[in-house]
Amino acid sequence: MYEGEISNAQKLIEQLGGTIRIAEMIEEISIKELSQAIAEFLIKNHKEGKLNFGITSFCGFRDNRKVLNEVKKLLKGSISIRFANRNFQNLDAGTLHKEKLLSKGFEIMILKKGEKFTIFHTIAAQNIDKFSERDYKKPFRDMEVGMLPPKLALMMLNFTRENGILPKSIYDPFCGTGTVLIEGENLGLRALGSDISEKVLEMSRKNLEYFFGKKERKIFKQDARDAFKKELESEAICCEAYLGPIFKRSLNEKDLEKALSDTEDVIYGFLRNMHTKIKGDRAVIALPFWQTQKGEIFLKKVLEIIEKFWENRTVSLTNRPRKSLLFRRKEQKVGREIIILQKRSSVAQR
Ligand SMILES: C[S@@+](CC[C@H](N)C(=O)[O-])C[C@H]1O[C@@H](n2cnc3c(N)ncnc32)[C@H](O)[C@@H]1O
Repeated sequence: MYEGEISNAQKLIEQLGGTIRIAEMIEEISIKELSQAIAEFLIKNHKEGKLNFGITSFCGFRDNRKVLNEVKKLLKGSISIRFANRNFQNLDAGTLHKEKLLSKGFEIMILKKGEKFTIFHTIAAQNIDKFSERDYKKPFRDMEVGMLPPKLALMMLNFTRENGILPKSIYDPFCGTGTVLIEGENLGLRALGSDISEKVLEMSRKNLEYFFGKKERKIFKQDARDAFKKELESEAICCEAYLGPIFKRSLNEKDLEKALSDTEDVIYGFLRNMHTKIKGDRAVIALPFWQTQKGEIFLKKVLEIIEKFWENRTVSLTNRPRKSLLFRRKEQKVGREIIILQKRSSVAQR
């Protein structure tokens, strides 16, 4: 539920990452009233010129064609109209921006719940182009290091919120080419990063400079397992941890064993080390998991260290016993398991 100024909705959606649309409810109606209610809304809210609109329906309602044709009939004669649905298919967020339906037109969403229908008017939509720009235009990318989608990085940054408020600074101890740092700076946070590889650190520095200009940044070489000399001025950790060696072929048992032991070693060391090294209490981490023919393989040993120093605050969306959120593209062998951790208070006081 979004409660706020309509004019701020687009700004908000661009800060959230995972939200596709924000829509304002118009009314709840029966199927018989559907087209009439949509036509009335459009007439009332249309200002001038040709009326551009589209319809997107969810939850088992698939009759866009019928509704669009009925609305067209109802509006015929009073306004010149054009609808944006191609072949009567639902609209995607990209089309809403391309067709300017948010500023100079309308998208009506229809939600079916039992026998009732609710209609909404979309006021904000995810802007894929802005993500693509931050992803593909950065001067340095490295397929070997991994390609954390900016959208996912942004969602993870939002999980560092406490009581709805973002931290002022975040630290990525596996910063690679800087995806989390870029999204962090874009949100106005101070972003600190380290990595074991000087090569990728330079990429991070150059990428940040490209988007946000030259300024002093704390981006330094550090093995995340090693002790830090002093506490870091960071209110939260947000990172995609080391995902293990890259395998170009299908994984066999031996590969999997190697991937598990390599990553457990680094991530275990990092979690043990890190709980005393940041000022804040929150950590949002993407861990690797592997998709095999036998199913998903998750890290096990890291749970011990989490249990000892951190509390898992992730709200799962499924009935899986692990409290985590999963992200994996179909073609990928390695997925990301997102966990949201809070320092145990007894540990924080030590
Ligand atoms: C999956 S990548 C992170 C990619 C990053 N999110 C990006 O945008 O490019 C993991 C990173 O962990 C680094 N790494 C591996 N072992 C490490 C360690 N022990 N300490 C610190 N960094 C390490 C690698 O150099 C690599 O850049």
